[in-house]
Amino acid sequence: MQPEQVTLFERVGGRDAVGRIVEAFYRHVEADPVQRAIYPDDLEPGKEKLKLFFEQWMGGEPRYTGLYGHPRLRRRHFPFVIDELAAGRWLRYMRQAMQEEGVREQDLRQVFEALGPLAHHMVNAGQDVPRGAHEQGMRLS
Ligand code: HEM
Repeated sequence: MQPEQVTLFERVGGRDAVGRIVEAFYRHVEADPVQRAIYPDDLEPGKEKLKLFFEQWMGGEPRYTGLYGHPRLRRRHFPFVIDELAAGRWLRYMRQAMQEEGVREQDLRQVFEALGPLAHHMVNAGQDVPRGAHEQGMRLS
């Protein structure tokens, strides 16, 4: 197979590698009290969802959607107040996590071309968005 026919998911090392990336990302979040304060007390459910999501997003099996439906990421983030600085920190910690896992420079470039706009799309601080699950009429988990 030519390298370009191999999915990003396979190039980074598959499910185990995605799991390690998400664990590393959350370690960075936990080490930063300001970023940590945005997240709920129990980090485990979110961690598992992020693993499933990234597996799917990188071209692996669509297990996230199988379990939780369409990602609708911006809506799912409404309960959490996210400003530009938080988006910047999210991107920094994700880049560090992927670098620690040995994701190659050209893959990092491709990934962050997409994740940059996506992270800024998640910014909702100061916006009149429904913060509670009941207001959104949807299941969050
Ligand atoms: C911009 C900064 C971001 C912040 C501060 C942030 C923060 C959060 C928080 C607090 C949660 C809830 C975790 C939980 O319930 O335990 C969450 C969930 C999640 N985030 Fe983010 N996030 C950001 C950007 C992103 C981006 C760019 C993506 C995707 C590329 C993403 C993907 C997810 C996913 C898939 C979930 C689980 C959603 C669900 O099924 O409930 N997040 N995020």
